[in-house]
Amino acid sequence: MHPTMDTSTQSLREHDTIRAVRWQGDRLCLLDQRLLPAEERWIECLNAEEVTQAIRDLAVRGAPAIGIAAAWGVVLAAQQGAPLDDVLATLRAARPTAVNLMWALDRMKGRIAAGAQAAALEREAQSIQDEDLAANRHMGELGAALIAPGSGVLTHCNTGSLATAGYGTALGVIRAGVADGRINEVFAGETRPWQQGARLTMYELVRDRIPAHLIADSAAAHLMRSGKVQWVIVGADRIAANGDTANKIGTYQLAIAARHHGVKFMVVAPSSTVDMATPDGEAIEIELRHADELLATGGRRTVVEGARAWNPVFDVTPAELIDAIVTERGVIERPDAMAMRAMFGQ
Ligand code: MRU
Repeated sequence: MHPTMDTSTQSLREHDTIRAVRWQGDRLCLLDQRLLPAEERWIECLNAEEVTQAIRDLAVRGAPAIGIAAAWGVVLAAQQGAPLDDVLATLRAARPTAVNLMWALDRMKGRIAAGAQAAALEREAQSIQDEDLAANRHMGELGAALIAPGSGVLTHCNTGSLATAGYGTALGVIRAGVADGRINEVFAGETRPWQQGARLTMYELVRDRIPAHLIADSAAAHLMRSGKVQWVIVGADRIAANGDTANKIGTYQLAIAARHHGVKFMVVAPSSTVDMATPDGEAIEIELRHADELLATGGRRTVVEGARAWNPVFDVTPAELIDAIVTERGVIERPDAMAMRAMFGQ
């Protein structure tokens, strides 16, 4: 490690300066994740329609962050006297896979049904955001405790401060693990096609001075074979009642390769990502996005005109390939329906 790098325990625990979702009392400011790391530009959403559009277009992304943004969208609608049932329905339909979106909207809906007005809804949205940050810090401790000192880890997509209220889920475990000396090397897959790993995770890791290497997604099995990583650590968009987990496309193949190479596989997500009403991964809707996201790179067409593409942006990792699910309520090792029920009820 470079001698001037400040990776003391205290600094890593507290050096968590990125906040991508900021409420300003009458507008929601979002750090536009489509432009990072080239440009740090904020967009202002003045109403629920603009929040919905920002979620659809991935200006804000990551399961917890879209739930938080949607809650603020409901607050804007309430302040402006917009029809809340319509707003709830439109926001809910913005993206299908991450259940945090539906969870946050159901929470807001419950408050509306109880007669809450704009000020009370504002307090609820703030609680959703604050609770997410607290959950991430707690999961960081729980997840890091599973990792032997001196380990290397591989992560996928972006699960950090940009994807949450702050600190991150899988990236929170990595932050805590580096601070504790349990993790000494981090690898991040670039996460084609949208490059969340290359553009966003590397941005966070470099800012926090965490030693990290970017790898091509297709280098993952080779990395595991080299013995450089002992854990794959990822986030989740929805965890079904049997522990099957939907996450960014490419996660499933990482889990298969990890099992083959004796590398452990950890999923880190707040309980707002757990959906006990969905029995298993088969029942999770996988978002299909436009083929253009694959046919072009950085806005420039790279594939011959006339070519077609299939662009599912999530996949499901079966529970039997997961060694540990870490939530703020605790750790489930070797998850299955019974262990999930014991922790989450239903
Ligand atoms: O399409 P995205 O960028 O919203 O997908 C994000 C992911 O798949 C993350 O891994 C997941 O939401 C967890 S974020 C803490």
